[in-house]
Amino acid sequence: MTPFGELWDRSLRNLLADAGRAALEDAGIDRVDSLLVGNMTAGMFVGQEHVGAMAADAMGLLGVPAARIESACASGAAALRLGFFEVASGAADLVMVCGVEKMNDVTDATDALAAASDREYEAYYGATFPSLYAMMARAHMEKYGTTVEQLNLVSIKAHRLGAKNPLAQFRREVTMKDVENSPMVAEPLRVMHCSPVTDGAAAVILCPLEKAKDFNARPVKIAGIGAATASLALHDRTDLCSLEAVRLAGQRAYEMAGRKPEDIDVAEVHDCFAIAEIMNIEALGFVPEGKGGPAVEAGETDLGGRIPVNMSGGLKSKGHPVGATGVAQVVEIYHQLRGESGERQVDGAKVGLAQNMGGTGASSVVHILEAI
Ligand code: COA
Repeated sequence: MTPFGELWDRSLRNLLADAGRAALEDAGIDRVDSLLVGNMTAGMFVGQEHVGAMAADAMGLLGVPAARIESACASGAAALRLGFFEVASGAADLVMVCGVEKMNDVTDATDALAAASDREYEAYYGATFPSLYAMMARAHMEKYGTTVEQLNLVSIKAHRLGAKNPLAQFRREVTMKDVENSPMVAEPLRVMHCSPVTDGAAAVILCPLEKAKDFNARPVKIAGIGAATASLALHDRTDLCSLEAVRLAGQRAYEMAGRKPEDIDVAEVHDCFAIAEIMNIEALGFVPEGKGGPAVEAGETDLGGRIPVNMSGGLKSKGHPVGATGVAQVVEIYHQLRGESGERQVDGAKVGLAQNMGGTGASSVVHILEAI
């Protein structure tokens, strides 16, 4: 994983090369059989399409089959899922999955991000991403009594853990007052409830389990994968407070892995806005529907809590280069399962979950990983 942040001296090409070369070096290899790149919209952010070929070129892998995979902010995990199936099908033995986004060079990031919502029925009428999540937050507050203070606590935890992550965009702790005093973006969401605009990339290399020890003394196994969709526009949902694609993706991943929510030792969930962390822990079955806010308040999702969530600092503090996020979440879980996460390490973590989400939850991909 590259550092995440406003990386004015790194281009899209540089980010692909940085993450890709680091992954190859870590595995001690100089070729792969296939290259998949998760990327939401390099076309809108930097005017560059054909990102698969660019990645092969930038990483010194010319000749390799390469393609870009898009599922909005879930592009990274969507690419990883397809990489897994390439290996599982026997078509490829070594697959690199890279996620990348260069967001800071564009003049209107809000407009580019709106391409992940329903352009015709939401963005056209002025709905921005923060405003769509603000509606979900409002509905959750009305239905379940979730409070602004609980949203604030999600962000305070994220920044406290992000401060311990050397690759995070924001490495500073924030207080309740800092969150309360940050500018309002879309009521009730303030700047401090939002993930930032981020440049960055991450890459992993997949291979059949029986070959993994040739490349890595302590590999991590992908035990389960689930993916699902829900309606693109919020107004088509029967309930603004529940994330059906996440629930289904989680259910499918648990089933494939033969696991239950109680088996998960550490999780990275898609906290693009503070309310999303609360709704995602409910959809993944870590807490009952409507109980996400109280669980955060009770410290259940903190380091040392019952189900530690977003030890990387999450999208809020680590940063959210949209197409890279799903791969970066898996990189965090990989290090957690190997006991390499330093001050943010969850003691004895053996089973981890990464949940990535596109748009306002119109798509989601969940991976369950295990130490072997
Ligand atoms: N959290 C904390 N600080 C933030 C921040 C965030 N999300 N976004 C910006 N900042 C800080 C900047 O670092 C900068 O600090 P500095 O003055 O100390 O350098 C300051 O706030 C102003 O930054 P700026 O880039 O001008 O902010 P902005 O007002 O243009 O953007 C948001 C703020 C919240 C609107 C923007 O981050 C945003 O759109 N976030 C949501 C992204 C999104 O929708 N992603 C997809 C999710 S599905």
